[in-house]
Amino acid sequence: MAKLKKLNLCVLISGNGSNLQALIDACTVPEFPAQIGLVISNKASAGGLVRAKKNQIPTLVVDHKAYPTRADFDRVMTKAMEDNSTELICLAGFMRLLSDAFCDNWRDRMINIHPSLLPSFKGLGVQQAAIDAGVGFSGCTVHYVRKEIDTGPIIVQAAVPLKSFDTADSLAARILVEEHKIYPHAVRLIAEGKVTISNERALTADNDRQTQSLINPPIEN
Ligand code: GRF
Repeated sequence: MAKLKKLNLCVLISGNGSNLQALIDACTVPEFPAQIGLVISNKASAGGLVRAKKNQIPTLVVDHKAYPTRADFDRVMTKAMEDNSTELICLAGFMRLLSDAFCDNWRDRMINIHPSLLPSFKGLGVQQAAIDAGVGFSGCTVHYVRKEIDTGPIIVQAAVPLKSFDTADSLAARILVEEHKIYPHAVRLIAEGKVTISNERALTADNDRQTQSLINPPIEN
């Protein structure tokens, strides 16, 4: 049987790397159409580096403090990714802003996961912001990356209902469970060639298979 040509990923992290772990786990399934060729962290202490090493994935630390400008930092990462034949960058808790040139260079080849239903609640502290706004649902979003923070065509979203007793931590934990499902799902859709970008919308035929609406609080029968 012909060997599956896998999409080669580079995952960029700064911390714990639970989303990296979800991608690692997905990639261990032989039929999964992607592989992780490289993990880059801007912090040597990032827990995600241990996860990568445990799985024999090459790692690189590019300490942003060692470079005079953001452009220099981004150039070093690009060189490492080009040498590794990266086809898709997955930002997974990467806590650095990227230069415009970097975003242009990797346009439509770089995705991010964010713990809200974008375009609501961009930036940091978004779980508390959702609680404070009193929304019935928050959730998470995988999207292509554009220059403005937390913008870009939306590939997959998961909705998570809010509870009256939620704290930022309890909500973040429930959202993370869904993040770990939708990040590999989005990568699979891209790797299988199912995502097209048209007028800055990411379209998949699979969208049309979703038929269920969600109501919170639910209507009692
Ligand atoms: C996640 O909530 C992700 O949505 C956000 O940063 C967090 C990273 O968590 N961008 P982890 O390092 O993957 O556990």
